Amino acid sequence: MCGIVAYVGSKTVAPLLLEGLKRLEYRGYDSAGMAVKGSDGKLHVQRSVGRVANLQKLVEEHEGQLDGSIGIAHTRWATHGEPSVENAHPHVGTTKDGHTVAVVHNGIIENYVSVRKYLEGKGHVFYSETDTEVISKLVAELYDGDLESAVQRALQEISGAYAIAVMVDAWPHTLVCARKGSPLIVGIADNAYVVASDASAIVSHTTQVFALEDYQVVKLCAGAEDKLTEKGGPWSTELRTTTIDNVPVDHEVTELEMNLDQIELGGYPHYMLKEIMEQPTSIRNCLRGRIDKRENRIVLGGIDEFKRELVRAKRYILTGQGTAYHAGLIGEYLFEDLARVPARCEYASEFRYRNPIIEDGTIICAVSQSGETADTLAALGEARERGAMALGVVNAVGSTISRETDAGVYLHVGPEIGVASTKAFVGQVTVLAMLALYIGRRKHLSNESVAHYLDQLDLIPGHIEKVLEQSEFIRKSVEQVVDRDNWLFLGRGYNYPVAIEGALKLKEISYIHAEGMPAAEMKHGPIALIEEGMPVVFVATKGTQYEKVISNIEEVRARGGKILAVATEGDTDITQYASPDCVFYVPDVPEALQPLVTSVPLQLLAYHAAVLRGHDVDKPRNLAKSVTVE
Ligand code: M6R
Repeated sequence: MCGIVAYVGSKTVAPLLLEGLKRLEYRGYDSAGMAVKGSDGKLHVQRSVGRVANLQKLVEEHEGQLDGSIGIAHTRWATHGEPSVENAHPHVGTTKDGHTVAVVHNGIIENYVSVRKYLEGKGHVFYSETDTEVISKLVAELYDGDLESAVQRALQEISGAYAIAVMVDAWPHTLVCARKGSPLIVGIADNAYVVASDASAIVSHTTQVFALEDYQVVKLCAGAEDKLTEKGGPWSTELRTTTIDNVPVDHEVTELEMNLDQIELGGYPHYMLKEIMEQPTSIRNCLRGRIDKRENRIVLGGIDEFKRELVRAKRYILTGQGTAYHAGLIGEYLFEDLARVPARCEYASEFRYRNPIIEDGTIICAVSQSGETADTLAALGEARERGAMALGVVNAVGSTISRETDAGVYLHVGPEIGVASTKAFVGQVTVLAMLALYIGRRKHLSNESVAHYLDQLDLIPGHIEKVLEQSEFIRKSVEQVVDRDNWLFLGRGYNYPVAIEGALKLKEISYIHAEGMPAAEMKHGPIALIEEGMPVVFVATKGTQYEKVISNIEEVRARGGKILAVATEGDTDITQYASPDCVFYVPDVPEALQPLVTSVPLQLLAYHAAVLRGHDVDKPRNLAKSVTVE
């Protein structure tokens, strides 16, 4: 949700900032902008509405001005104010001695109305409807020659969430950045620093990084020493981290677990398709080293220290938003079924505000791809505050959730760039299944049962490979119904969350209205929607509730609905209800692991529907990859 990137060093900055913005564009793409200190000593700002490509044209037209080696840039997901040039970042302010301050920001400033009034009283003129502009004006108001101090003092007056990068034309080699609530990573490169909302904009410069913590400020200087500049004298860099009250703090530099190939399209037309297709590999990576058949157990290094607490826990609360919430719902089934421990999954956004009861022995399990979702973080904080132990099921290594949990299991599925989550969902369910087995193995699960699940888990990547072979078949099926604007997705048991995830996938990228629900719920109202030809997707794999699902299919068919079905290989009966060209077969796996295969045809279905409808699959309208505001 908004991407920021900033650089100070020895290279011409504008192309680097553009490259960084392209990498971060999946975080928001309403408008983009950059500020660069030119060799003329002035701070030049360029902003445009729409994609980074529009900004690139502007930057190329003003190449002569934007020739410096320090700059900040932003790609926006609008919160306050429509997408327009005026509301695009960077925002600027003028200091008392006539210097220009520029700021890019990700987050929401909650007290911006009162701060704006105060600053207007001081003579500052505002040009945008954004909350961000108060930061640039407040820093300018407080600036007395020391940018770091002005930023620290400004942040003491501000409430809300922020990741910011700030520069002033008076300081040609200095960037000041800070965070509270929104992510910010600092990369330490050769003679340079690069700061960004996430690692994808850093990895081409360096793998040495640290994440800024809440209420921390970092001052980054890189430049030729003093007057030796023109003579090519020694290069000097300086980095200082403090709290917003100017107390020096340490930072731990770590090696980034990411490489450039992982974030390139690699010949695919869209990241979403690439990420769907790489699931056999990503799930193999997720399972690697974690299935110990010799000892008949699951090995999860990140939680071993807390084995006793995890096994003795009286209750698990799983939480997340969107796709992560759907994975958590499957986790609820897995924990109760395999680990025999009470579990419930809650929307983080609801949980955090409803005065939840946390009994002794409760473990909160936050599920998140990015590890930065604002509501999930807040729910986690709320549960911890009330005494719950915190567990993270996260993909992004080093992300805020992974740092704010007592223990955790990474997905290891690699970076996910497509806004529609696919491989992360399957990774989340894989990890939750492993966690349930880890606990269940130490409680009631028999050795035979564990051995069976371990064997079956091991086979999942190969099964996914087989499902992916049907991509073209699925595309042709979708073609028959892609013009329909209302769809239903139905499933029971473990496949009920798969149905609601299938519906979410379809609506978020194809803009088709779709509802997912437990199949039995249909009769309690939604059946009224069914009319001739309405697509109804059933997840109808073999299992304890198969017959019941078939009855639901009959009910839809009797009312003229068009049935599409995900079914178990070898189930020929299903073609009595759905035409064979609309049945997507998945290998036979135990019910508890079925979501790992049944979700895949629904990902492909959504992908093809969106492409057939001509939408930008990786950048669906109004959405952003990482929702770092409430
Ligand atoms: O990064 P997270 O997993 O915490 O994100 C949660 C949701 O915002 C995310 O899953 C969203 O629903 C996806 N766009 C769905 O495809």
